[in-house]
Amino acid sequence: MVRISAPGKLMLFGDHAVVYGRPCIVTAVNHRMSVNMERRTDNKIIINAPQMKIGTYITSTEELDKENPKEVKFVLTAIKNFFKKYNVRSGLDIETKSKFSSKFGFGSSSAVTVSTIKGLSELFNVEMSKNEVFDLSYKTVLDIQSVGSGFDVAAAIYGGTIYFVGGGKKIKQMNLKKLPLVVGYTGVKGDTPTLVKGLAKKREKYKELIDAKFDISDKIVSQSREHFETSNLEVLGELMNFNHGLLNSFGVSSLELESLIQKAKKSGAYGAKLSGAGGGDCMIALVPEEKRKGVEKAINQLGAVINVSPNAEGVRIEK
Ligand code: PMV
Repeated sequence: MVRISAPGKLMLFGDHAVVYGRPCIVTAVNHRMSVNMERRTDNKIIINAPQMKIGTYITSTEELDKENPKEVKFVLTAIKNFFKKYNVRSGLDIETKSKFSSKFGFGSSSAVTVSTIKGLSELFNVEMSKNEVFDLSYKTVLDIQSVGSGFDVAAAIYGGTIYFVGGGKKIKQMNLKKLPLVVGYTGVKGDTPTLVKGLAKKREKYKELIDAKFDISDKIVSQSREHFETSNLEVLGELMNFNHGLLNSFGVSSLELESLIQKAKKSGAYGAKLSGAGGGDCMIALVPEEKRKGVEKAINQLGAVINVSPNAEGVRIEK
């Protein structure tokens, strides 16, 4: 049996613009998804997902092309893509476990996809480079969601904090010294594909305007890169505010996000922004340590602080 785990993620800068070839900065977080896998002698694929409504799902290697329930789609599409690419096949026993709830938007789908591909490469003795794991995992995510930059897949594989250009054109590990974040959950689930498609529609009408904003996002990411190196938190906070202003102008923020962001800033955060597609999920605030308690208290009045630490290790085989 193999046991694999991969981290979730938080987007720090460059949300949405990264879908249009601009860069972003993403950090892997210590909330992990794990997958246990074993080969079977028959052709059954049995997925045990105790934290999901579905519980246990039974299918077979012959049925990988059929439409599957959303809870097991990423695992089964990853298996289908792996079998096809490496021309292997066997029944499998799989168990998925999450250290975090999928409702937070920490990227459980990409983490489970990456863990599945990595687990299969171990079970079938296929050597895969990180880039190859990225390509097959990203294809899997696109097969299902049709949109996405792949930043979450990269974070699950490489871990740490990375500078990422859409589609994996550039993946560069950054040297992050400290990042005192407070993460606030709005209590509302954001729907990433709908928000990404909504912005694409808006861009059809306001292409020049929106592309100019993506260019600014690009500049914010470049500047933030320099300030990460020196841990200039004050400037990073300000850059977060600029970035959030852009995202808000795209119409992807929400009342809940705005309230948490304003509260965090009023309570002494250097800066705050939504993280990811928006619509709900989580916001992040960069805080001076002496203000952390106050910011957390303020966020807990309207939403919930989620205990998260950045810069986590990428996908790994657990002993
Ligand atoms: O909503 P999340 O956390 O999955 O993040 C989506 C980030 C986008 O830039 C909006 C889309 C993407 O795939 O990069």
